[in-house]
Amino acid sequence: MTDAIKRDVENAEFFTEQDIRIFSFDTRQSTRLHTFAEELAAIGGPQAPGAKSKASLAATELKSSFSKDQCQLLAAYSNGLVCALIFEGLQKITDGSPPNELPDLTSLENRYDVLCLAARNQILLKLVDNSSFAYDMDNEGKLVRLVANFKGGGLVKINAEPDINELSSHSGLALGPHTEAPYWCAVNAKDGHSPSPSSLILSALWNPSLEPTRVIPLPPLLEKIGVSHCLALTTGNFQFTRSDSFVSGKGEDGRNVSILEFDDKVGFAARFNSYRFSVNDNASNFVKTAYAALCQGVSEATPVEYTLTQASAMVINNVRSLHCRDVIKDNRRVLVRIFGLSKFSSPVVISEDPLLLQG
Ligand SMILES: [Fe+2]
Repeated sequence: MTDAIKRDVENAEFFTEQDIRIFSFDTRQSTRLHTFAEELAAIGGPQAPGAKSKASLAATELKSSFSKDQCQLLAAYSNGLVCALIFEGLQKITDGSPPNELPDLTSLENRYDVLCLAARNQILLKLVDNSSFAYDMDNEGKLVRLVANFKGGGLVKINAEPDINELSSHSGLALGPHTEAPYWCAVNAKDGHSPSPSSLILSALWNPSLEPTRVIPLPPLLEKIGVSHCLALTTGNFQFTRSDSFVSGKGEDGRNVSILEFDDKVGFAARFNSYRFSVNDNASNFVKTAYAALCQGVSEATPVEYTLTQASAMVINNVRSLHCRDVIKDNRRVLVRIFGLSKFSSPVVISEDPLLLQG
């Protein structure tokens, strides 16, 4: 636990911008949440038609048991003021320790404990007014993504370790600081592309070596690089390469995007990936200098580290923080991830239930 994580709700009456906060469930609340998660898992989890409204109802009912301080903390995240919110005091889903070897992706996806964790994540996202969704061109169009070393690149080789490891959450490679793709826009749809995820939520099925998730809040970093550089980062002078998690044949590289944008509803919103973004060759020296300052600021930033278990979950505000991780050391580590869409985002909707967006 670092000093950057604030456990109590200070000055709740005057909630201003915060970096990383902790929301603690009491026993009664976490028992209730667990029951709702099990009910949702029983119908098939977040991917099942009807899960969306069930998660909403569960969130509404849970909120009625929260204190004023708890409600204010949720509202602060919902309003875009918090960089990451950690939920603690959650019930463990299973007592079982991981098997000696990581099961394959399909059998993991269908496990009841995974569906429970995914369902719980969907309800937790709804507590901060985020709707679970998938993009058509990413993660095979599925809402739930399992983050684990299925494709090699970790510290310890897997069976059938490939020669080239894809740079995605399905490999074991270290991932440098990034926000989640796609990177065309951050809040409002643009040219047929939905915005980046507003949030991602992560919990751990297994994390036997207690490997942390790292978050870099952007407000202090942007303050450090200064206003002129930030202004230069709002220009459309940047490009990015296609993500390895995209469906084969779909998704593409992008050109002429900005890194920062001002939005009336959320203030600033960012898109950045330290291993996919670059500055256009023909950009001005002002822009190139600003980009170098950003990259240096990111490389010098000290990430906040948090070790996820079944008893916790972390929702990361994807437009005001970067996240990253070290190389996977224990190949049995499995995180359960879902993307969330905030009340401020306007996407291109392909289907409503489950929510599928055009990426
Ligand atoms: Fe990521």
